[in-house]
Amino acid sequence: MSYAEVYERSIADPDGFWMQAAEAIDWDRRPSKALFDEHAPLYEWYADGLVNGCWNAVDRHVQAGHGDRVAIIHDSPVTHTKHEITYAELQVRVASLAGALQAKGVTKGDRVIIYMPMVPEALEAMLACARLGAIHSVVFGGFAANELAVRIDDCTPKCIIAASCGIEPGRVVQYKPLLDGALALAEHQPEFCVILQREQQVAHLEEGRDVDWHAFQYGTRPADCVPVEGNHPAYILYTSGTTGQPKGVVRHTGGHLVALNWSMRYLYDMNPGEVFWAASDVGWVVGHSYICYAPLVFGCTTIVFEGKPVGTPDAGTFWRVIQDHRVKCLFTAPTAFRAIKRDDPQGALVEDYDLSSLQSLFLAGERADPDTIQWAMDKLGVPVIDHWWQTETGWAICGNPMGVEPLPVKIGSPCVPMPGYDVQILDEAGHPMPDGELGAIAIKLPLPPGTLPTLWQAEARYRKAYLEHFPGYYETGDAGYKDADGYLYIMARTDDVINVAGHRLSTGAMEEVLAGHPEVAECAVIGVTDALKGQLPMGFLCLNKGSNHTADQVVADCVKLVRDKIGPVAAFKLAVVVDRLPKTRSGKILRATMVKIADGADFKMPATIDDPAILDEIAVALRTLGYGK
Ligand code: COA
Ligand code: AMP
Repeated sequence: MSYAEVYERSIADPDGFWMQAAEAIDWDRRPSKALFDEHAPLYEWYADGLVNGCWNAVDRHVQAGHGDRVAIIHDSPVTHTKHEITYAELQVRVASLAGALQAKGVTKGDRVIIYMPMVPEALEAMLACARLGAIHSVVFGGFAANELAVRIDDCTPKCIIAASCGIEPGRVVQYKPLLDGALALAEHQPEFCVILQREQQVAHLEEGRDVDWHAFQYGTRPADCVPVEGNHPAYILYTSGTTGQPKGVVRHTGGHLVALNWSMRYLYDMNPGEVFWAASDVGWVVGHSYICYAPLVFGCTTIVFEGKPVGTPDAGTFWRVIQDHRVKCLFTAPTAFRAIKRDDPQGALVEDYDLSSLQSLFLAGERADPDTIQWAMDKLGVPVIDHWWQTETGWAICGNPMGVEPLPVKIGSPCVPMPGYDVQILDEAGHPMPDGELGAIAIKLPLPPGTLPTLWQAEARYRKAYLEHFPGYYETGDAGYKDADGYLYIMARTDDVINVAGHRLSTGAMEEVLAGHPEVAECAVIGVTDALKGQLPMGFLCLNKGSNHTADQVVADCVKLVRDKIGPVAAFKLAVVVDRLPKTRSGKILRATMVKIADGADFKMPATIDDPAILDEIAVALRTLGYGK
């Protein structure tokens, strides 16, 4: 079948399309239908089926005789170690961990927070939760204690599973003190914490609360898989919203298994037994979908890579991993390639490795700039596929369906909609825009399986944030256009989300932190263009009248404050003190204009500006940071 036929069928007959796709999943009870639209505009998939995520990711492959196949490869240049775990071994490890959790009272529906670096145990913890029907929520290690505390209070976990430490180039990140700090801040307290002691930094265990990962499994019975309803939440993954309160994206079990499994064959063109490598982090959606669940559900080998594209030890690391493990498909963020290209512009290190196994490179998480795509195509000699998606959708909205029919690559476009995504470009009033014209990107409801049905215990916020602006549609928060061939182009966010090294951050959340500084009367944070990370946050601070603090002092405090409250991942290092912020006559801060000035781009003076002279003051301040014209 051609892409057009596949896509048309998914839109014309969603139930038929997705029931057929569901046949690739092992159900304990087959669902009676795919789409449950009784509560539109809230939709669910496979709601009356019974299924287990861990069974599908692990046990069924062992049962089918593939127990000796490698499930997980841990490749860790930061610890100079590599090891492999077969499906049979994974089954034993996960059943044992799940058994120990069960013995301590974790059951279906309980929440479990996972705060771990890139070690296989992070996947094992996720799968152990799935085995029991417990709902995991993985928190990225680069977040500060405060962010962890916010998530603890929102999803009220019965248990937290953490590692003693993570390893960043040049430093050991002590996770345990961050966890202890978060628990001191949080109102909700888990019943217990499971700590994986790593040899690089053994943590103190709090008697009565903390248990050792290995010791607590001793003598417990391995757990069986607990079937859950198709609409039972597999996990909650928090992502940046417009305030300091992150949004808890919920993922239902049935749809997530079906859609991810479909994508492995038809989007990424994989076969069971082949090696898939998503160079991301388990704390992000890419890690959930394509380090953990999709490759395992589909029966591939997945790589847990604990390192960076450069500096661990050099810009040839990615090529070494591809060669050593015969990677067929690599998925990463464009920023990783920009980092490699910066260190090795000629791609000389590529020559040192055998990359014959590699068939495609997929990029996502941020805009893929044409230079980077071209460089990657030239150096690797494989198709470089940009694809576009979000934490909310869990898998690609647009991409090039390499396993159906590879479509011509148009550099700058993440290609065409995946099955079930009826992508439309709308004007402010919600009318479809002609081809080639920029508008808000919205998806006609229902979204396909695997996408978010709601936000964790925040249905009203879900409706307000995604469904209300364009009734009958899901609002993506991205703006862009479609060309005459139906290819999509993603141009900008329509909200305050910025993308720093493929990490999604909210400038609003950073403004909340800065406003908490006692000397800051008013502030604004914008995302400025950065050659390596895509965007970087930059803060503008207005001090209280009569403040006797120096500007340098306040800037240094603010940089520290954001690192302490949000975390190093925010990469907030640029800030400047100004007298006033440019605003409209109704008092709205003109952030978009400030971005244009910082990027040295041409801009039109906003008609509603209150005092144009402030823009000159902003330009002067920006020059002190080396930005603007
Ligand atoms: N735990 C603790 N700290 C972490 C962390 C983790 N898991 N991940 C990142 N950090 C810290 C870094 O050490 C750094 O701290 P610093 O300010 O003390 O140097 C800070 O957070 C920013 O990290 P990062 O954005 O990763 O920048 P970097 O300079 O360390 O590396 C790149 C730059 C481009 C090499 C890196 O961002 C990268 O590999 N990006 C790939 C993007 C990606 O995987 N995105 C996921 C979506 S697909
Ligand atoms: P996240 O939820 O962290 O995956 O971030 C999702 C956001 O990243 C999207 O809404 C886009 O703004 C941006 N994004 C992801 N993939 C792409 C892409 N291929 N091209 C442009 N922007 C992208």
